[in-house]
Amino acid sequence: MTRDRRRHGGSEARPPPSSRRAAPPQREWSRVVLVALLSCIIGFGAFAYSGYRKWSLAVRVVTMHPSPPIISPNSSSPALSPHMFWGSYRPQVYFGMKTRSPRSVVTGLMWVSQSGSSSLRHTCEQSDGLARYGWLLHDGVSFGIQEIGDKGFTLMTEFVKRPGGQHGGDWSWRITGTPEAPPSPGQLLSIFFYVATDGQGMLTPHLDGRRLSHVTGTSEELGAFTINFPRPEAGGGAISYNHLVTTCPGLHHITEVVRTSLRDRFSHPSGGPGGNKRRYFGVDVYNPPPQPGSDHSQLIIQQVTLQLPFQAEVIFESGSFWERPGTLSGAALTTELEKHKTHMEEKFRQMFQLEKKGFIPEQIAFAQAALSNMLGGIGYFYGSSLVQSRYNPEPVAYPVAPLYTAVPSRSFFPRGFLWDEGFHLLLIAQWNPSLAWQSLGHWLDLMNADGWIPREQILGPEARSKVPSEFVVQWDENANPPTLFLALRQLLASKDIAPEGLQFLRRAFPRLQTWYNWFNETQNGPLPYSYRWRGRDRDTLRFLNPKTLTSGLDDYPRASHPSDDERHVDLRCWMALASEVMANICNLLGEDGSRYKESYLALSDNSLLDRLHWFERLGAYADYGNHTQNTVLEWEKPRLAPGQDPRSVPPPRLIRVVKKAPKLQFIGALGYVSLFPLLLQLLQPDSPKLGRLLEQIRDPDKLWTPYGIRSLSKSSPMYMKHNTEHDPPYWRGPIWVNVNFLVVRALHHYSQLEGPYQERAGSIYRELRINLLANLYRQYKESGFLWEQYNDQTGRGQGCHPFTGWSALIVLVMAEEY
Ligand SMILES: *[C@@H]1O[C@H](CO)[C@@H](O)[C@H](O)[C@H]1NC(C)=O
Ligand SMILES: *[C@@H]1O[C@H](CO)[C@@H](O)[C@H](O)[C@H]1NC(C)=O
Ligand SMILES: *[C@@H]1O[C@H](CO)[C@@H](O)[C@H](O)[C@H]1NC(C)=O
Repeated sequence: MTRDRRRHGGSEARPPPSSRRAAPPQREWSRVVLVALLSCIIGFGAFAYSGYRKWSLAVRVVTMHPSPPIISPNSSSPALSPHMFWGSYRPQVYFGMKTRSPRSVVTGLMWVSQSGSSSLRHTCEQSDGLARYGWLLHDGVSFGIQEIGDKGFTLMTEFVKRPGGQHGGDWSWRITGTPEAPPSPGQLLSIFFYVATDGQGMLTPHLDGRRLSHVTGTSEELGAFTINFPRPEAGGGAISYNHLVTTCPGLHHITEVVRTSLRDRFSHPSGGPGGNKRRYFGVDVYNPPPQPGSDHSQLIIQQVTLQLPFQAEVIFESGSFWERPGTLSGAALTTELEKHKTHMEEKFRQMFQLEKKGFIPEQIAFAQAALSNMLGGIGYFYGSSLVQSRYNPEPVAYPVAPLYTAVPSRSFFPRGFLWDEGFHLLLIAQWNPSLAWQSLGHWLDLMNADGWIPREQILGPEARSKVPSEFVVQWDENANPPTLFLALRQLLASKDIAPEGLQFLRRAFPRLQTWYNWFNETQNGPLPYSYRWRGRDRDTLRFLNPKTLTSGLDDYPRASHPSDDERHVDLRCWMALASEVMANICNLLGEDGSRYKESYLALSDNSLLDRLHWFERLGAYADYGNHTQNTVLEWEKPRLAPGQDPRSVPPPRLIRVVKKAPKLQFIGALGYVSLFPLLLQLLQPDSPKLGRLLEQIRDPDKLWTPYGIRSLSKSSPMYMKHNTEHDPPYWRGPIWVNVNFLVVRALHHYSQLEGPYQERAGSIYRELRINLLANLYRQYKESGFLWEQYNDQTGRGQGCHPFTGWSALIVLVMAEEY
């Protein structure tokens, strides 16, 4: 996870190579003329060549990998993948669905309490202050049940799909509103269902009197379809209907359309209890900008205003589905939902066996919710990234592409992140390997000809509208941990790899090779078999310790003075993992994997590792570089020139002051980075270093807390230090679940191998597992959410929420599935 609030890794910009031209020779006239003529031609040629060279360097970054894509262009189509066509692939909204196609028709839900002062709910926003929301059950494919706790009431949002026809089948939604006890009398609530096109397709509203009863439509992939809005059942009886038919300049404007179209309305007196008129806000008119662009949306909104409790349904029916056994609503819908629910609970029980492991039903429900939010957080995005290389004076558009991926956080990071996804897939692959193969395929298809994959995927205007513009551009020199190899290792370890997996590996092989080489060549270090993250902050005046966003561990302390002399132990361990997995893939495919095998042997050789990275004084592994521990942030003293107006002096800045000159040395920061050889299980079970690291982990004055392993030792000089005035500590103390998962998994691994530290590893494993489980469960019960990180002093969830990306790996910890 890399916070986009922070600056993206600076490029190490160097000027483009200059092209040299020879001076023309001068002797005899005739020759001079001839030579002048010739040199004109050559000069022009050289000029043209240098222009061509500049151009070809500039387009290199957006030239895609030449091998055939892993995900063939029509493989997500309703013809080839009908059961996956529709889905809750819009994790950024509380409830909505779309298809896995470039310009999908989208559907969604909004609501607003008419009685309170609360805002219109649509996209997941932390500022909405909801008590909780998330999927209680979601199988990633066919159904989902979500609970949303708003002020004074709860909404259940459920969907279920039904296959049939040639266009991805039907689906039905059910929204159930329940007042909190004691109910606030007469609380009026409006729910808005919308359907919108995205540049293609057509929608037609149909009225029953003044009420919108259904919408018919067509689109390229869906063919003809109907969306029905049956009359809801509401306890209060009074129901008012409003609707709006309009166009808007893109999907990211839908909230604004609804908000600006609301006007005072009065409910029909006839339906109300006692016949009282009630005032409320209803959608009325919206004036779209005069000339909608090519991405303009046709938008139809159905608003239903009613009293709690209520139940409303929305029924989507595909025109090509002829043998429909009946409408999927009412009792039929209940039955279908129950069927899926029972099926998922049974599969979950068999797969993870949590009862047998001593968990109570409430804890099992917690685990089901964690898994369901990971699956329900999978999105389908389409668009292009903005990227830049040192040969591009300006950012350029990456080729347009789809991305099927899970997201770290539906509110704060509703988009794909390369290194997060490798962790997500550990859980997803366990549940449904097919979903994991599909995500892997999409990610690797984003690779350019050099082997680079942009690490944060901000695709399309809807995604871009959530990210400040200065964070959008991705630099092609910047890596991100190749965690997809973690997922691949797990997928390869399963006893029989499905044909889908083998087919994936064959198609993916050329890309995996290029990806590996890209890391091996562009992120190499100063010594053989050493590695260095590129793209560290260059501005040493601004930061207490320049960040390394590319490593994923943003502000984890590294060398104080970034230089080419650095070597990074975490990246070296990632490369060891990548080499091992590549060697295994070669084995499986019958390819020559000796290069990878050699690299793996060198990178996992413990004595070479110790020579490059063991820092005896720290008692742990460490980075190496130009470094001093003696840096502080100090307020710059304003310098007033004689006679200068004090008001013209710029406000004081907090800048870094170096108290002692840096020198080449190991970096004395004990924390996650120091543990990497253990985390990725590269240490021999009899390595004395393993024993040393186990003691560091278990030491409460260093890394151990009752809630998990903290990211940076309490004894480290950088522990919980701000990096600038505005950058609070991020990877300098708080507890992160992805790395704790790796610690737990590694401890389990070493507790299974014979050796002098086997028992110690086992006892720390048992303690840490319980600590993590107990704290994440407690925080979930208290706050309603899984969190981005956990406070190392109190265990409290902090950072953004919900964070059901890698924090959901707690399911695997509960099940002891590593
Ligand atoms: C999918 O596309 C490939 C080529 O891209 C084509 O050969 C194949 O027939 C298509 N399949 C379907 C079902 O459209
Ligand atoms: C990685 O790079 C090193 C040094 O440049 C080279 O010796 C090694 O063969 C490379 N590994 C692979 C698998 O290509
Ligand atoms: C370390 O950094 C300092 C300050 O930038 C520089 O003067 C010095 O030459 C560097 N040392 C080495 C060995 O690169």
